Amino acid sequence: MKSLTLESFALLLTLQVVYCLMDNDLNKPHKDRYVLHKNCEAAIHKQIDEEMHASLVYATMAAHFDHNSVARQGIAKFFSDNSMEEREHAQKFIDYLNSRGARFAGFDVKMPGKSSWNKGLDAFGDALNLEKHVNNKLHHLHDIAALTCLDNHLMDFIENEFFDEQVKSIDQLTRFMSILKGMDTPMGEYLFDQQLQGKKTEL
Ligand SMILES: [Fe+2]
Repeated sequence: MKSLTLESFALLLTLQVVYCLMDNDLNKPHKDRYVLHKNCEAAIHKQIDEEMHASLVYATMAAHFDHNSVARQGIAKFFSDNSMEEREHAQKFIDYLNSRGARFAGFDVKMPGKSSWNKGLDAFGDALNLEKHVNNKLHHLHDIAALTCLDNHLMDFIENEFFDEQVKSIDQLTRFMSILKGMDTPMGEYLFDQQLQGKKTEL
């Protein structure tokens, strides 16, 4: 009985040591709450790369639809504006790192895997999937801020600066796809493109 008690004590001690090793500084918020937790700093860098990837995908879409063999300037302008917007999102996160005393360590951006689309509807479908992907990554970053870093300021920043815009963007692309699906012909795409250019057309 006595040896069993000693064994239990040894086991308890081992578990405490393991717990202490696991519960290291990386799993605790800093005492100085201004300083960004290393896990959140790394997660923000990943989000910057996601935003830059989205910017490059949109720039590629804009180049395709602006080509004289495609000539859909309204769609090209829409994707070009989106490319700038995604670049601004990346910059917002870089500025945020600086504001929290962290250093931006550079880009590691995945290149777009496609450079042409058969029709506008296909590109809007890809854009919708991209926005949903970026939205999911933003929520993941928010989860890390909430559960790992216990960083209320980062959560507040993501909530105020990104979530609403992502929902509006997904909603807009879904509406565009509904319109294009309803008139899935070159003429339908032409009329839609004219509307995006701000030219009056009967749709
Ligand atoms: Fe974005």
